[in-house]
Amino acid sequence: MTTKTLSSRLAGLALTPLHALQIVTGRKDFKNDVLGSEALNRKGLHVWRVLAAARVTARRRSKLERFVSPQERAFFAENGYIERRNLLPDAEFAKLVAEVEALKAPAREMREGGAVTRRIPLTPDVLKNAPTLAAFLKDERWTGPIRYVGGFDVEPVLSIQTIFGEPSAAAGSKDPQTDLHMDTFHSTAKAWYFLYDVPEDEGPFTYVAGSHKLTPRRLAWHKRQSLLAAARRGGGAFRIPLSALKLLRLPQPTKFAVPANTLVVGDTFGFHARGHSARRSIRVELYASQRPNPFLPFTSLDSAKLPYVSGRKEVISWFFEDWLVKLKMQRLIWRPVGAVKARDAVAEKR
Ligand SMILES: [Fe+2]
Repeated sequence: MTTKTLSSRLAGLALTPLHALQIVTGRKDFKNDVLGSEALNRKGLHVWRVLAAARVTARRRSKLERFVSPQERAFFAENGYIERRNLLPDAEFAKLVAEVEALKAPAREMREGGAVTRRIPLTPDVLKNAPTLAAFLKDERWTGPIRYVGGFDVEPVLSIQTIFGEPSAAAGSKDPQTDLHMDTFHSTAKAWYFLYDVPEDEGPFTYVAGSHKLTPRRLAWHKRQSLLAAARRGGGAFRIPLSALKLLRLPQPTKFAVPANTLVVGDTFGFHARGHSARRSIRVELYASQRPNPFLPFTSLDSAKLPYVSGRKEVISWFFEDWLVKLKMQRLIWRPVGAVKARDAVAEKR
């Protein structure tokens, strides 16, 4: 054995306890020696994580039922998402949209294939000049379903999001978000509050109704996927071709071509994708997500209760991302583009 091989083996052994601890975290990829072990996954490690996280989530969710109506709970249990149309009265909605349109604040952009996503985080500084938005962000009509679906009574990560869509053929490279996938091995909540009508051919969000359920077929599929991912030390956001939905007894995706003033909250353990855009399009929405450690049994352990964190979860994660980039441990994903409005042109084209 060479010195190099021996030292990398010793380093591997030293890291094993840390890798083992990651079993009970939200880490989703198969790149470490424990989560990525073919033998352990053959014995059911990944399936255990899926089942255990689902059990803990169900218990937490049962404590948060007050945030949604019994009808919404039943609909969610069957379909994996909650939809609220006409969320705000017309006058209140118009005021909110006007404020979003007037707001100019520091943003970042991410390119995926031809599509660009812009996020303007709604930090306390930004909200100083946006009182309607500031009040709305604390409003349970919108945060309640996120808390229920995610299973945590915590402050969601909030931003104004703009999706600049390109027709797939013109884009040159493919937008990976248009592939049907699940985000990770456990329930996570993502919410879109659409500020404008979403046409069917402008890349609407699509979701496979009922694909959040843990059926025996789905678990068997997970086991197969975990073995494939372990073999290539790959990621954990598994994709699924449309043709395979039938094998899992699932329907074709529902397209959320919805009118303005609609809130959609989805459990992105279920299969979802961005629809294809037939033309250049701009979609502006309030976007929120929630993804604490799925194995936490408590509903209200919230980092937003720490000093400085409330309203800044996204910028804090970007701060850490910037450090990883500086240390050359990661490539830059979210590129700062200075202060912009939600509908301003994409930075690189200005
Ligand atoms: Fe996703």
